[in-house]
Amino acid sequence: ESIRQSNSHLKHKRVLISAGGTRERIDSVRYITNDSSGKMGYALAKAAAYAGATVTLVSTIHNLPVPLGVELVTVQSALEMQQAIESRFDQLDVVIMAAAVSDYRPAQSLAYKIKKNSKDDLTELKLVKNPDILAGLGQKKQHQFLVGFAAETSNLEKYALTKLADKHVDMIVANDVSQANIGFNSDDNAVTVLTNTQKSIRLAQAAKPLIAQKLIELISQHI
Ligand code: CTP
Ligand code: CA
Repeated sequence: ESIRQSNSHLKHKRVLISAGGTRERIDSVRYITNDSSGKMGYALAKAAAYAGATVTLVSTIHNLPVPLGVELVTVQSALEMQQAIESRFDQLDVVIMAAAVSDYRPAQSLAYKIKKNSKDDLTELKLVKNPDILAGLGQKKQHQFLVGFAAETSNLEKYALTKLADKHVDMIVANDVSQANIGFNSDDNAVTVLTNTQKSIRLAQAAKPLIAQKLIELISQHI
């Protein structure tokens, strides 16, 4: 363990990792979310802490054990997650956006439970676009190393490269979410890592903690 820490460029670096799918409230008992389990984010937090980093986990998940020494900040919506990350951004060295941020939220969310036979018509739900948290960080970044994930069901490398450029990030971890055994809500993952400076690196299917350890090593080599 000590060898691992002393070899890592992440030692004493401040790393923020987002995890889980955001919850976008319709009313006090209903929300929109997605299949993200948070497992990849939690595995990354554990691996980064093990490498000696000071780790903050901004998470929508309540049912996973928080890795030792990791600060947990719980949020629900994309807007809450954005606020939690942006308020800490100046003090950070690395941000890893492993969260599945909902692209949309209900145009209004009601503070009570909607009754089915009332004027609150839920047969049509109006949505508005959420801000792109990662792209916002890409606009603002100074010294920070930014890592995004790309969940794709087709044209994996092409779309991931577009996200790398458009969001001004340093690394994209591309995830094929069309396969049931990897990615969203499964214990394994298989990813392709893209940066501006190196040719793409394929990490073959493995348990998420192992993939996380390799990703943290790659990030450490880049900072
Ligand atoms: N992301 C974000 N804020 C959003 C949407 C996405 O910060 N509102 C981040 C995710 O956490 C991820 C990266 O952007 O690190 C890519 O997310 P993804 O859903 O794959 O891409 P999008 O840019 O949302 O495009 P699309 O869903 O249309 O493929
Ligand atoms: Ca999206």
